[in-house]
Amino acid sequence: MRVLFVCLGNICRSPAAEGVFRALTKSTEVDSAGTGGWHVGDPPYEPMQHAARARGYALGDLRARQFVVADFHQFDLIVAMDSNNLADIERLRPAGSETPVRLFTEFAPESGAKAVPDPYYTRDFEGALDLIEICARALTTSLQMQAS
Ligand code: 4NP
Repeated sequence: MRVLFVCLGNICRSPAAEGVFRALTKSTEVDSAGTGGWHVGDPPYEPMQHAARARGYALGDLRARQFVVADFHQFDLIVAMDSNNLADIERLRPAGSETPVRLFTEFAPESGAKAVPDPYYTRDFEGALDLIEICARALTTSLQMQAS
């Protein structure tokens, strides 16, 4: 199973999702990307790294990259942080690709959240990480149930 997390910049939400999800599962290949290219090559945003580090997630070795059409072939599941990310990804879907693209929050409907709000703008890094942890646990459970 190969899972790709996607947000806008690939410096806040999707690298955090990658780090949290990686800590939960060994059997899944995981990566992250941004629909935008402004931060390509950058490490995760320092305030997000700091908040993640306090919870035991080391994000410092990650580097931002932009989502590419080939990702539809490289991954079994693409997970978007909000509906704009999802629409931007779907716009690039190559003919014949059936790779599912899902919202992260869909896996945790009990959270009531329709998206992972962007802490680059909200400045709520703790709230973003709380929701990312909830969704990552729910995604792990969903994949385990699918596999058994
Ligand atoms: P992210 O947050 O999508 O969670 O990585 C963002 C970070 C930077 C920008 C946009 C979103 N930016 O436009 O620079």
